[in-house]
Amino acid sequence: MKAIILYDTRSEGGSTDRFVESLGKSLAETGAYVEKGKCKATADYSFIQDFDVVIMGAPVYYMLVSSELLGSFFQSNLKKYLNRKKVALFLTCGSPEPMAYMMYLPQLKMHLVRNKILTEKVFTPAELSDNQAIDDYVDNILHAYKKALKTRNNNLIWADDAQELLAQIPSFFRNRIKIATEEYAEEMGYREITVAVIDEAKAELE
Ligand SMILES: Cc1cc2nc3c(=O)[nH]c(=O)nc-3n(C[C@H](O)[C@H](O)[C@H](O)COP(=O)(O)O)c2cc1C
Repeated sequence: MKAIILYDTRSEGGSTDRFVESLGKSLAETGAYVEKGKCKATADYSFIQDFDVVIMGAPVYYMLVSSELLGSFFQSNLKKYLNRKKVALFLTCGSPEPMAYMMYLPQLKMHLVRNKILTEKVFTPAELSDNQAIDDYVDNILHAYKKALKTRNNNLIWADDAQELLAQIPSFFRNRIKIATEEYAEEMGYREITVAVIDEAKAELE
């Protein structure tokens, strides 16, 4: 699994920076390929095409999710490249959990209605340096990711002509196209992937 941690914080070397470092290490120890990057509201996010999972989060400041992450949904191409990506969310904040789930997480989730949210967690200040809490979050991501892949592969049938078309795609791109097409078919409720479905998915993804 290739994962990118996209995050924001105003405090360089602060609690979120340290948390993201530990999260990356914990995930890498499971064999995943992990990169991390700080959000910028006007960045080019086309690079996230290369990742299977986007782990996304930030602190809350004055009741708003940190601005470079939140702003990326409005000012950059983040939303475009997140299309149908599997996403895991986290927040770091001082508020009690129910309040954070009710008031802060929706600030991210309202932009992710077409995404599969693998898991979401609000980390209290104490949990940010708690290795067990971080490992549990990583376990939840991996478990949900594997489950999502299994569900997809079990249900979909590739028609012969679609398989032939897939085989003609250079191997470097083939798996990415296969996954994107399966995700599209799953979302549309198709049980069988035909050449027409591949064309539809291609038009949608362009
Ligand atoms: C200026 C400031 C404003 C904050 N506002 C909130 C808030 O409105 N709600 C909340 O739950 N936590 C709030 N917090 C707590 C932070 O979200 C929390 O401490 C977080 O872990 C800080 O991350 P950082 O160390 O990367 O900056 C605030 C913290 C600071 C410093």
